[in-house]
Formats: sequence, structure tokens, C-alpha cells
Amino acid sequence: MESRFSIRTFGCQMNVHDTEKVANLLHHAGMQAATDEAEADLLVINTCSIREKAEHRLYSDLGALRSWKEAGEGRLIGVGGCVAQQEGDAMLRRFPQVDFVFGTHNLRHVPALIEDARAGRRRSDTTESRSLERFELPERHPGLSQTTPGRAYLTVMEGCDMFCSFCIVPRTRGREISRPAAAILDEARRLVDQGVREITLLGQTVNAYGRHDVRRGQAAQAGTMPFHELLAHLDAIPGLRRLRYTSPHPIFVDEGLVRAHGQLESLCPHVHLPAQSGSDPVLEQMRRRYTADELRTIAGDLRDARPDLVLTTDLIVGFPGERHADFEETLRLVRDVGFVDSYSFKYSARPETRAASLTDTVPPEVAQERLEELQALQRELTIAYHRRRVGEDVEVLLEGTSRRGDQLSGRDPQHRIVNFSGETPSDWAPGDFVWAHVAEATPHSLIGEALPSADLLAIASNH
Ligand code: SAH
Ligand code: SF4
Ligand code: F3S
Repeated sequence: MESRFSIRTFGCQMNVHDTEKVANLLHHAGMQAATDEAEADLLVINTCSIREKAEHRLYSDLGALRSWKEAGEGRLIGVGGCVAQQEGDAMLRRFPQVDFVFGTHNLRHVPALIEDARAGRRRSDTTESRSLERFELPERHPGLSQTTPGRAYLTVMEGCDMFCSFCIVPRTRGREISRPAAAILDEARRLVDQGVREITLLGQTVNAYGRHDVRRGQAAQAGTMPFHELLAHLDAIPGLRRLRYTSPHPIFVDEGLVRAHGQLESLCPHVHLPAQSGSDPVLEQMRRRYTADELRTIAGDLRDARPDLVLTTDLIVGFPGERHADFEETLRLVRDVGFVDSYSFKYSARPETRAASLTDTVPPEVAQERLEELQALQRELTIAYHRRRVGEDVEVLLEGTSRRGDQLSGRDPQHRIVNFSGETPSDWAPGDFVWAHVAEATPHSLIGEALPSADLLAIASNH
């Protein structure tokens, strides 16, 4: 019987992309994607441990999966990602239903782990690697279905050396390592040849790309370069219409990157810039290495370079020692910068991080109140921004239909969701660029009408 796999993915874009890489490896190993888990004989869980909740979710899922496993002979369960990296062997001891465990540096070993598991050898491979080997993955298998037509992720660096005091990532993703630019550009060109029009560069601190090599004077040997130079090379690839990157760390937003935003045509006017807090003492305790005013300056510089640029962010409330006055500083920063969107979280203590030993904890109900207040402010800012966009004509990269299914849906250059209806030629497909007129704003999206072809001609002749 042909083997069919299914993968559950939790966590950030790096995990989403790691799942694509594992799926590709499994295709190369002769397996196929199952339409659903009921049909699969291999289930892989790609885990996240950024907050306690994410980790607990895995444990409850694993409990429920015992019956999935018993329902079919020879069914296998594999666990990868950040929890796997932390737990390693312990995972196999604690959960007899788990057949293999792989770490964040060991995606390439998954086919071998499956073979061993089939032969009854349960193994865990979470060895950390500092070699570039982990970037050497096979070409995209023709049988692999594309997650989002027209768009693709591309890894430029991995790991994190920042050790923010609250964060588990440096422990689950290991040390910072940058991939040679030639390999990145090759992959980008291949993606464009396959029809990709929008590339999102990935890295835990993506704009730290090449910094260690540059600082040591070894960039030429390592084949890396400052991040903004990499962007310029990518921008020069014909056919690549949109270039994005995530997540940058504010301290590595340098003059070169700011200038790139004013100069590179494909570089999208959106930066997801995680702020975490607006209070200087809290930022210091978090070891973020910038002040709130420095963040205001960075935001201002980016906007000066590219006035239509949208900033979004990540914020944590209830960090140990956060007083009400500190929280108010966060609200003030969010208002001053005018973040168009944000992901906000209640602080969650993670094992072996510095912040986990801080005793000045904020009661959960206070953190909850702050979270709600912050999210209410964010909703106001989001809708106010969306309202300012009403009346514009926007270019949309089509993704599919809206959630309700009655409109087409995609993203504009600022990464806002645009849902629209109207006279739509029947041969449009996900991955195509279309133009829409924004007629209405909601808290979650811009609502519009597809531009009739006559208007499109007018836009084209103005370009
Ligand atoms: N590399 C990115 C973010 C990675 S984690 C950066 O440097 O900004 C994504 C987000 O999760 C973080 O920006 C932070 O807001 C949140 N996060 C990380 N650890 C957390 C914790 N212990 N508790 C609550 N939120 C956390
Ligand atoms: Fe975590 Fe800080 Fe690294 Fe981001 S920069 S991944 S928040 S340690
Ligand atoms: Fe989660 Fe790991 Fe990403 S902890 S957020 S999956 S780097």
C-alpha cells in the first residue's frame, strides 16, 4: 500500500515553511499527501513552544491521537518543531504513541527516521548543527501541491542569538546562521520560474542576515552580505513583483535597510516590527536593547523613506514588573507609531529563560485586562487606517475566496486583506494580480469592487 502522510502545523511562519520542507522530503521519499488524517498512515506534528498554551495543546492532541493510531494498522506518529527540539528523547519515554522525534535542525533525517520507525526502532534526532548542510534540501517535487499559488517563503537565516529574556526561541532554534546569498538567489530564481510572484524572506531575526560574517570580515568567504544588499540582488530578479521579510529585529534596521525601502521597487510597503513593550524599564528587563523613543525614530525613518509604509507589531502584556504606568507607555507607543495591526500576548513564563526566574509577576486577571484594553485600542487604529484607504485603487495578489465565500480575496502591497466582487473574468486564478477599488472598510479587511478592464487600461497607461 502506498504511504500517505498528513502534517499538523503550529507556531510561526518558520514552522509553516518547515512543514513545506518536510512534505517535500516525504514526496521525494515516495510518499503522498493524504486528503485528510483519516486517510493517512503517517501523522507528523510540527510543534511550537513559544507560550505554555501552545505546548499544552500538543499534549492534549497526543492524548487524543492514541485512538487515531489504534484505528489503523502500522500508523505512525512523528513529532518535530520547537517542543521536540527541547524534549528530545523524553518525548519518546513520555508518549508511547510517538514513533519518532526530530529537531529543528534535522528535517533532512525525517525519511530515515520513518524507515526506522517502520522497522520498530523508535528514535529521536535533535542534534544541533552549526553547519550549512541543513539548508541543502532537494528541489521542489512536482507532486507537491503549492500552499499558496504565486507566493512562497524562502529561508535566508536560522536561529537567534538575541536571547530576549522571555523567549524560548534561541533554545529551540539554536545559534544564528546565515545561508550563502548565491543559494538564496538561486532558489528565488527557481521560484519565479515556477510562477511565484511574491517571496517572503524568513529568519527569526531576518535582518540580522550576514551580520556575524560582516562583523568578522568574513562575508566574502561565507558568501553572505548585509541584509539590504541581499534585498537589492533579489529586487533585480525579473518577474519577482513583491518582496517581503519577517521578522526583523528593530536594532538591525539600519540606514541601508531604510534606504532600500525608498528605492527597491519590489520591496513591499509593510514591515512587521516587533516592539514587545513601550516602557523603557520593561524593555530593559526584556533585554530588547532599544528604548521606546528609538523605536519611534526607526518607525519615522521607515515612513520618511516610504510614506505609504504600514507597520505592524508584536506586543507582550503582563511581563514581570510591568506596572500600570508601564502598560500605559505601551498604549502610548502603539498610538504614536500608529501600528496598523498587532499580535498581542499575555506573558507566559518559559523554562530556562531569564525572565522565568523574575518574581515580580503580574496577576493573570490584570494581564487579561491589559490585553483587552490594548486590543481595543488596536481595533480602533486598524479600522481608522482601513477607512483612510477607502477610495483607493489597489493591486491585489489573489489568494482565493473570502471567508464567507461570496467574494474574491487577496492581499494588497501593505499586506491588508482585500475582499472584492464585481465583474471578474472567469479565468482568474489564485496567484494572479488583479486591481480593485476600495469602497468600504471593516476591522479585518478592505472591501472593494474589481476594476473594469477600461479602468485597468487607464492605470496601465499611467504606469
Ligand atoms: N523573532 C521575532 C519573534 C518571535 S516569537 C522577534 O524577535 O520579534 C513571536 C512573538 O511571540 C514575539 O514577538 C513575542 O511577542 C511573543 N512571545 C515570545 N515569547 C513569549 C512569551 N514567553 N510570552 C508571551 N509572548 C511571547
Ligand atoms: Fe525571541 Fe528575541 Fe530572538 Fe525574537 S529576537 S526570536 S523575541 S530571542
Ligand atoms: Fe513557535 Fe518555534 Fe516559531 S517556538 S513561534 S514555532 S520558532
